[in-house]
Amino acid sequence: MEQTFVMVKPDGVSRGLVGAVVSRFENKGLKLAAVKLMTIPQELAERHYGEHREKKFFGELVEFITSGPVFAMVWEGPQAVKNARSIIGATNPAEAVPGSIRGDYALIVDSNIVHGSDSPESAQREIGLFFG
Ligand code: CMP
Repeated sequence: MEQTFVMVKPDGVSRGLVGAVVSRFENKGLKLAAVKLMTIPQELAERHYGEHREKKFFGELVEFITSGPVFAMVWEGPQAVKNARSIIGATNPAEAVPGSIRGDYALIVDSNIVHGSDSPESAQREIGLFFG
């Protein structure tokens, strides 16, 4: 069964959206396999977002993701990566369709409530980083 990594980011945790996010994955039929409430150390943040290291927003991204607790999860089920990404919605909330998490709860790209792995390979890498 495929697994994917999902986390409620500091903005989602501080706004009290953990329950709403978890409900959407449960309602869809995915199964929760692991969960961890944690504040991400700088080094882990830089590794997790390593593919964005050259982007101009990298520093702000790392600062934001380490700014408060995140709710990290592993969800599993058929095509878990694709299904999770459709529940989450487009990276930019302005483009995310209503009914998706970012479409319903977020306005701007740098605080978009939730992260989800973008491929099965990324999912295995990110699950290893957070739960390995
Ligand atoms: P996420 O799915 O966690 O993966 C990378 C994150 O970078 C993304 O969500 C956004 O929250 C964040 N980000 C910040 N600024 C930008 C930007 N200009 N374009 C894309 N992503 C951005």
